[in-house]
Amino acid sequence: EKRKIVIAANWKMNTNLDEAVELASEMLFELSEIDSVETILCPPFISLQKLKELFTDTRIKLGAQNVFYEEKGAFTGEISALMLHDLCQYVIIGHSERRQYFCETDEIVQKKLASAVNLGIKPIFCVGENLEQYQSEQTEEVIITQLTRGLSGLKLPDILIAYEPIWAIGTGQAASAVEANEVASLIRRTFGELFGLDAAGVLPVLYGGSVNADNIAEYVSKTDIDGALVGGASLKSSQFVSIIKRVA
Ligand code: G3H
Repeated sequence: EKRKIVIAANWKMNTNLDEAVELASEMLFELSEIDSVETILCPPFISLQKLKELFTDTRIKLGAQNVFYEEKGAFTGEISALMLHDLCQYVIIGHSERRQYFCETDEIVQKKLASAVNLGIKPIFCVGENLEQYQSEQTEEVIITQLTRGLSGLKLPDILIAYEPIWAIGTGQAASAVEANEVASLIRRTFGELFGLDAAGVLPVLYGGSVNADNIAEYVSKTDIDGALVGGASLKSSQFVSIIKRVA
């Protein structure tokens, strides 16, 4: 069974409500006929409701960029999976920017994954090594640790995993497709050891880090890469649309 290609846009902390609606409308106009690619937009929280209305009865899916692991209570400023589950189908968890700037540990990531899965929101679980780890050939160890800690205690989660080498994010220095595929294979093998070969066989594994319309085709041509998590190039509708059209 061939896995469907997934292209997810992570807008990060960009776009106010008007800008998000405009960007999403332009993308919708260009992409409405495409159903061979699972297209997911992850705007800031403030735009989820409006984009949900815009995408009603369309093929474009929505994701959040973060979630807190408690369902409700005295957690000023946080948003829970309980609040998100009727707004979006996906949520990015474990992004390196959250690990780096918001002190998210593997343990916190695990709780967030568990909470999202419990509420029926599919996590896009991000893993990846930093430059120093890459240069000292610790990539494999880092990825296995992030995966096993993040996924511990979960039962056959409905999840996507994104491999994002930190040195490739927003730098224009994309990982080579060969290297990215080696890590994608490692992710699939590790997932298989945790949840069985069948689950590993259908697991969507994405690559993220300086993906654009010129390099996307090579990534998805590889055996274990099923699509991409796109940052910078997802903020221009023409660029994001070209990425999807290259692989549709
Ligand atoms: O979540 C997306 C990634 O951080 C990739 O960002 O495409 O700007 O390198 P980028």
